[in-house]
Amino acid sequence: MDETFKEKIAKIAAAAAAAPSGDNSQPWRFIARTPNILEFHAMPEKDNALLNIDESGTLIALGAALQNAELEAKSLGLTPTLRYSDEGSLVAVLILHEEGVLSDDERKLHKAIPLRHTNRKAYAHQPLAGDVREALLKNVKDDTDVELVLVESPEEMRRVSRALTTMEEVALSNETLHALFFADIFWSEADNSAGKQGLYIDTLELPPPAKAAFRLLKYWRVTKALSKIGFHKVVAEMNAQQNASASAFGIITAERLGRREYLEAGRLLERIWLQATAHGLSMQIVTGVTFLARSVVEPETAKLFSKDQLENMSAAYGVLKGQIAIDREPVLAFRIGTGGSPTAVSYRRAPEIIFA
Ligand SMILES: Cc1cc2nc3c(=O)[nH]c(=O)nc-3n(C[C@H](O)[C@H](O)[C@H](O)COP(=O)(O)O)c2cc1C
Repeated sequence: MDETFKEKIAKIAAAAAAAPSGDNSQPWRFIARTPNILEFHAMPEKDNALLNIDESGTLIALGAALQNAELEAKSLGLTPTLRYSDEGSLVAVLILHEEGVLSDDERKLHKAIPLRHTNRKAYAHQPLAGDVREALLKNVKDDTDVELVLVESPEEMRRVSRALTTMEEVALSNETLHALFFADIFWSEADNSAGKQGLYIDTLELPPPAKAAFRLLKYWRVTKALSKIGFHKVVAEMNAQQNASASAFGIITAERLGRREYLEAGRLLERIWLQATAHGLSMQIVTGVTFLARSVVEPETAKLFSKDQLENMSAAYGVLKGQIAIDREPVLAFRIGTGGSPTAVSYRRAPEIIFA
């Protein structure tokens, strides 16, 4: 196999793997076929089934990976043609033609790929500048069905923020979700540098007392006792206040929810995030509610939750629906604003590439 083809594929796959994924699950693998094909395969088993209804989280991550790959291919002088696939784990193929070039706008996005990180700090209370809002909205493409709604009024932002932290409220009062959340947190910096899947504790930006408390909260009996006296609601309230310090919440919407829409939502998410990064802004996806609310409509999943928890989830989803057009669904939500540099960032393992 041509060495330059292999080198280019390695660079494109590395850029793809820099994309965000739920709990840094990195649910992708790549197959390269001569002379010019790069296949994107999903590994939904890497994501948590309870929060991955219809493989939505996996597909969003794959969409973001595709977006990075397209930018990287162009930076290497190639023109990528994207073809979606419905065949099993194969979600999309990039056909790499000669003579590609980045436009000026794309060059800015491409430069931001290694600089894009989740930032879970408090952000400075500052409205979005007009030119930034315009630059973010420009990433919505006419030829796709996914759209972006920005929520910017302080009052609406507070409502949306509290609706989104219903996730913490439920996770700290439900044994199954609690177990899932704490199973994903790890404490070793060496594991983080090696690209371990999960959430490295320092990326959570907890104040020191909360970080210390986390060692105890991982025991369900401790969290359960605390939630009996309303701890879960206090945490949700505090997180909501912190998250509402953003300049805006973004909600990516689609007319219907399906494989193609999740992939397109991931592509759009990544363009927006790279654009935000290029403008020196921070982002955090805050979207457990959209995933869990879609999951708990299944009777098997609903069984795991109390009536109160189900009602809270559905009310929270309703708040998000209230922000968008009546005939559309929220795919995911995030916050955006001026957050400075994160204390710690998540790394990646080397992506698996098969040269077939
Ligand atoms: C589908 C999806 C859902 C996510 N949900 C959340 C979330 O609810 N809260 C959060 O803080 N981060 C969320 N993330 C961000 C990931 O945790 C993050 O991308 C991953 O840990 C890698 O870190 P990075 O974004 O800094 O590269 C989500 C990412 C994806 C793709």
